[in-house]
Amino acid sequence: MYRLVGKRIILGVTGGISAYKAAFLVRLLRKNGADIRIVMTQNATKFVTPLTFQALSSKSVYTELLDLDTETAMSHIELARWADLILIVPASANFIARYAFGLAEDLLSTICLATDSPVAIAPSMNQQMWLNVATQDNIKKISRRGIHIIGPAIGEQACGEDGPGRMLEPEEIVKYAANIFQTDILTGSRLLVTAGPTREAIDPIRFLSNRSSGRMGYAVATAAVEAGADVTLISGPVNLQAIGIDKVINVTSAAEMYESVMHEISSIDIFISAAAVADFRAQRISEQKIKKSQDVNELILEKTPDILFHVSGLHDAPFTVGFAAETEDLESNAQEKMFLKNLDMIAANQVGERKGIDSDENALTVFWKTGNEQLPLTSKNKLARHLIKLIAQQYNEKNSNKTH
Ligand code: C5P
Repeated sequence: MYRLVGKRIILGVTGGISAYKAAFLVRLLRKNGADIRIVMTQNATKFVTPLTFQALSSKSVYTELLDLDTETAMSHIELARWADLILIVPASANFIARYAFGLAEDLLSTICLATDSPVAIAPSMNQQMWLNVATQDNIKKISRRGIHIIGPAIGEQACGEDGPGRMLEPEEIVKYAANIFQTDILTGSRLLVTAGPTREAIDPIRFLSNRSSGRMGYAVATAAVEAGADVTLISGPVNLQAIGIDKVINVTSAAEMYESVMHEISSIDIFISAAAVADFRAQRISEQKIKKSQDVNELILEKTPDILFHVSGLHDAPFTVGFAAETEDLESNAQEKMFLKNLDMIAANQVGERKGIDSDENALTVFWKTGNEQLPLTSKNKLARHLIKLIAQQYNEKNSNKTH
């Protein structure tokens, strides 16, 4: 199930007899490629020890809100920001009540308040407790806030009774969790994404290139697949696995990327140019390795084709999205680029320490003709999902303007 590959999941465990099933869930989530951190309430530790979860997840287990050691490792705010999904298994009646009231008296409830990521809970309790009006009111309240409620099932319970309140099995919870990432906001559209650097040969051994890792473009392509789009990825040389993307075309130079894009573009609705295409190439590629003994005083460069500019200039051009990496005057440079290249949108990032090129995290300011939005520093995967949401909104708006 590719949708969980690389997803960062906080598994919150609250006090209930089904806490032991959360242990199975850890193994299943990891098997599906998710990266897990476990947060337990005090009551949960009475059912299963933190040591069990630590052994299963190979990571420290978080139990305290105010703990000097964990505060330095990852604070509640960092954990809340880190997560792509918060999954609470099992969710007790008590936890659900505290969550409905927005209490933040322990680590797990505080993380739930501090996150902007989806939260899903798998209730587990005695059937009378589940059917109680108070619990039902609390469930209605949190589901109105967009919290996913997974189950419960009807059946035989640990207390010997029969009825609703039985927690779903780990396999069903995993399926549900994966589906949360499937947004379908771009169903039916065909997307072309470029990613990574290009390499411009100087001789058979050497080339000019840049530090792009390709991570942003790959994350955007995966987020587009999750949005239901039909995605083609054209990639420069990178060290990455394409997750969930069926059609990947590998290229090396800017000229090859240009040819490849032009070959695909006629059937495309949205073009996202995330590649760090080299701006210059050697005017002449030496057929033989240039010898050290040779006196090479200059390398004559020429411009590579601007792929994005060519695409936006096409008759019947797709919706075009560019990227701009800037070291200064981010806003004005990005907006100027958007107008010069006649783009529908541009995602600009300030290149610097810990972010941007060759880093796991990034922050973006996205501009379109009538507005902009800042996407603060976070993982490239999370950023990509947010960017795809903005692209879908603007793309749909442009299309509805066309038809009216
Ligand atoms: O002009 P600049 O290189 O800063 O523009 C960046 C944007 O243009 C990116 O979206 C990049 O993918 C695209 N680009 C391109 N072909 C080039 C150079 C940049 O498509 N030769």
